[in-house]
Amino acid sequence: ELNGIVAVDGPSGTGKSTAARGLARALGAAYLDTGAMYRAVTLAVLRAGVALDDATGLARVAGETRLGMRTHPDDPGVLLDGVDVRQEIREQEVTGAVSAVSAVPEIRELLVERQRSLIDASTRPRGGIVVEGRDVGTVVAPDAGLKVYLTASADARAHRRTAQDAAEGRPADRERVHADVRRRDTLDSNRAVAPLRMAEDAVSLDTTELSLEQVLSRLRELADGRG
Ligand code: C5P
Repeated sequence: ELNGIVAVDGPSGTGKSTAARGLARALGAAYLDTGAMYRAVTLAVLRAGVALDDATGLARVAGETRLGMRTHPDDPGVLLDGVDVRQEIREQEVTGAVSAVSAVPEIRELLVERQRSLIDASTRPRGGIVVEGRDVGTVVAPDAGLKVYLTASADARAHRRTAQDAAEGRPADRERVHADVRRRDTLDSNRAVAPLRMAEDAVSLDTTELSLEQVLSRLRELADGRG
C-alpha cells in the first residue's frame, strides 16, 4: 500500500486521468483530479455570467463557490454547492473557458490550498493519494514521493481526446479537439503563475506509442520502485 503522494502531471490527452485513477485503485490510495476543481470553478463562473477577462469577478465567484471533492478512485466526483457536476464540467463551454479561469492567481491560491488540505486528509497520519494535474509536482506537492510527467505528440493527444469524447457521448470533432488541445497547451504553458512544467525530479514518460493499459502498468512499476 502506498504511503504518501504520487504526482501525475502533464497536458491533456496523455492518458493522465485513466492512469492516475487506475494507479490509485491498484494501490488502495485516494485519487484527486485537480483539473476537475478548475473546471468546477469555471462552471460556476459561466453560470454566474462573469466575463472571462474580469479577474476580480472571477476570483469573487471562486471564493463564494462551495466545492466538494470525492476522492475515492472507484467513484471520484465533484460537487458544486452540493450538486454533482461531473458531467457538466466536461462540456465544451467549460473546456473552452477553463484555461482563462485557471490563470487567475487568486483562484490558483484558493484551489492549491484546498488541494493541500485534501492531500493531508488522505495521508495523515498515514495513507496514500494519487494527484493529477499540471502543477502538482512543482507547486501543490513538491514533496511528493513519486512524480511522473506524461507527454505525447499533439496528434496522439488530440486522437485520444476525440475518442474519449465519443466514448462519453459528447460530440467529437477531431479538428476542433485538435485546435482546443493546442490552444490550451499554449495558455497553460505560458501563464505567469504555475505554468505547465515538468518538475526537475519527475520521471518523464512519453505515451505517444503506448496504450492506456501500458501507461498504467508503467506507473505501477514506478510506484512499486521497479522503475
Ligand atoms: O486536466 P484537465 O484537462 O481537466 O484540466 C483542465 C484545465 O485546468 C487545464 O487546461 C488547466 O488550465 C487547468 N489546470 C491547472 N492546474 C492543474 C490542473 C488543471 O491549471 N493542476
